[in-house]
Amino acid sequence: MPKNSLVLRSVGKTYGKNISAVKNIDAEIADGEFVVIVGPSGCGKSTLLRMVAGLETVTSGDIFIGETLVNNLEPAQRDVAMVFQNYALYPHMSVFDNMAYALKIRGLAKKEIKQRVSEVAKILELEPLLQRRPKALSGGQRQRVAMGRCIIRNPKLFLFDEPLSNLDTKLRHQMRLELKKLHHRLKTTSLYVTHDQVEAMTLGDRLIVMNQGRAEQIGTPIAIYQNPATKFVAGFIGSPGMNFLQATITNSGKTADCQGLGQLQLPDSGLVGYNGKNVIMGIRPEHIVVETAIKSGFNLPVILVETLGADSLIHCEAETPPQPAITIRLTGTHQFNIGEQIYFSFPQDKLHLFDGESGANLNQIINKK
Ligand SMILES: Nc1ncnc2c1ncn2[C@@H]1O[C@H](COP(=O)(O)OP(=O)(O)OP(=O)(O)O)[C@@H](O)[C@H]1O
Ligand SMILES: [Mg+2]
Repeated sequence: MPKNSLVLRSVGKTYGKNISAVKNIDAEIADGEFVVIVGPSGCGKSTLLRMVAGLETVTSGDIFIGETLVNNLEPAQRDVAMVFQNYALYPHMSVFDNMAYALKIRGLAKKEIKQRVSEVAKILELEPLLQRRPKALSGGQRQRVAMGRCIIRNPKLFLFDEPLSNLDTKLRHQMRLELKKLHHRLKTTSLYVTHDQVEAMTLGDRLIVMNQGRAEQIGTPIAIYQNPATKFVAGFIGSPGMNFLQATITNSGKTADCQGLGQLQLPDSGLVGYNGKNVIMGIRPEHIVVETAIKSGFNLPVILVETLGADSLIHCEAETPPQPAITIRLTGTHQFNIGEQIYFSFPQDKLHLFDGESGANLNQIINKK
C-alpha cells in the first residue's frame, strides 16, 4: 500500500440509534490523487470526511492512511490537515503567525519557521499580506491563508469541507483553478467535499457520488458523465441536468414508446425481459439533435429560450398530458419563437434507459448484447 493512500473499507456511521448517515462505503484513494465527494445536502459527505479526520468515530468498517489503521487514532496523530468552509483562522494572529503556529508547536527553530512560511507564502502569493490580521483580508485571501496553514505542515492528507462555498461565483471559479494548480505542484493526497457538481467535475481526478449515505458511483468525471450508474447520478452530474421521460418498452425490447412523444427504435437491445415494462429514458440537453431542414423526429412546442452567449437553452413542453418536457442545448445563438414546434431526435448511442423502479442504468444490459 503506498505511503499516503487512503483506504475506506465498509465505513459506516450511525448517529444515536437510527440516523444512518454513512452506509458501507468502500473506496481506495491513491497516493497523490484528488478525490471529490459530491452529493446533495444531508447525504453524509461531511460525516465521511470527519471520520477520516478523526473528528467523528466510525460505527463500522476500517479507515487506513497508508498502512496504518487509524480508527482509534486521535486527529493529531493522523497527520491530516483539514480546511473548513469558515477557514477557522486565529483572528488575533497575523497571517505569518497563523501559518507558523503548527510549526511553533512542533518546536521548530525560528529560522526554519521563517523559511518555511516564506516558501509557502510565495506559492500562495501571500508575501505582501504576512503582517495583516485575518479581518483585514478578503474572502479569497483568507482562503489562501487557510490553505497555507495546511501546506506548511506537509501532511499525509488534505481534507476539504466545502472550502469555497463562502466566496462569490467569480472568486470561487478562480480559487478552483488555483487549487487545481496547487495540487499539480504539491501532489498531496486530497479528499474534497462539495455539493456543487461543476466544482466536483473540474477538481476531481475521481468522484464519489453520494446519495442518502451510500456511494452510488465512484469514477472519473468523464466516466460518470458518460455512463452514470443510476438515474440519481445521471440527474445530479451535468448542467443543465439530463432530461428524463417516461417510456414503455415494446416490440420485444426493440422499441420504446416515449409517452407523449412517439416511438423510438432502440439499439439492438437485450431488453426482451423488459417488454411491456415502464422505464425512464434519459438524454442530455447537449446530445439532442435538432432537425431544422426537415420536419422529422419528435416535436414539441418551444416555451422558453435562454440565450447564454456561447450556448442557447431551448425549453419545450407539450400542453396536453402527459406533458413531456425537455431542454435542448445548442451552441451559439438561435431564433425560435415561443409556441413554435421544434423537431428533434435522440441519437441512439447517447440514450440512457433506467429501470423504472430501482433507477439502475440498463445500458449495461443493452451493451452486453
Ligand atoms: N451530530 C449529529 N447527530 C445526529 N445526526 C447528525 C449529526 N451530524 C449529521 N447528522 C445527520 O447525518 C446526515 C448526514 O449529515 P452530513 O453533515 O454528513 O451531510 P452533508 O452531506 O455534509 O450535508 P451538507 O451538504 O448540507 O453539508 C444528515 O441527515 C444529518 O442530519
Ligand atoms: Mg456538509
